[in-house]
Amino acid sequence: MANEKIIKLPQANFKGGISLEETLQKRRSRRRYRSEALSKKELSQILWSAQGITKEPIFRTAPSAGALYPIDIYVSIINVKDVDSGFYLYIPVEHHLIKIDSNSYKDIIYYFGYRQECLKNPALITLMVADYTKITPRYDERGYRYTFMEAGHISQNIYLQCESLGLGTVAVGAYDEEKLTKLLPVKNDVIYIMPIGKLF
Ligand SMILES: Cc1cc2nc3c(=O)[nH]c(=O)nc-3n(C[C@H](O)[C@H](O)[C@H](O)COP(=O)(O)O)c2cc1C
Repeated sequence: MANEKIIKLPQANFKGGISLEETLQKRRSRRRYRSEALSKKELSQILWSAQGITKEPIFRTAPSAGALYPIDIYVSIINVKDVDSGFYLYIPVEHHLIKIDSNSYKDIIYYFGYRQECLKNPALITLMVADYTKITPRYDERGYRYTFMEAGHISQNIYLQCESLGLGTVAVGAYDEEKLTKLLPVKNDVIYIMPIGKLF
């Protein structure tokens, strides 16, 4: 397990414990987390909700203008059972993670996330990274707007999935985008961040 570059994820559940309506009713931004590990199953479920394949060959849980999918999900893993801490990229088609770095970069994310409480002690942090070259050739300037709209869809999926799993998350837009994009092992712009952890 240790130092493996590819982390296979367990299949996601397609049936939840609580109804969509109850999940919507309960959804809240939650910023304080217990220092307890998430399971690999919870990690899998969160990533599937964000970008999982729901119809072969490419269609995903979140909509995407022209099905061009300009957003990649990276995960800073801090405290997940049976997964080494580190910085990973989620590959939807394979439903697996590729390890990019054994540093989770949690301190950098916390610092350049303006030391917000929600970034202090999460079990993991999802980061949406935009590759505009996938979308602007077709949509020109509108491609930028479409990418941000898509980030909102992904974010809401993560919010609802966390709520249904009894986990906490919050959408974070306040951070130094230039610094994070430069200091993290990503090739493109970090456009949205969501820390996730167990609730008190
Ligand atoms: C685009 C966007 C950026 C946000 N950025 C932050 C942030 O940087 N830090 C934070 O604690 N909450 C952030 N939030 C969460 C809002 O504060 C939260 O949604 C709002 O207070 C309403 O609460 P609710 O989500 O529980 O309904 C952001 C929300 C959105 C949609």
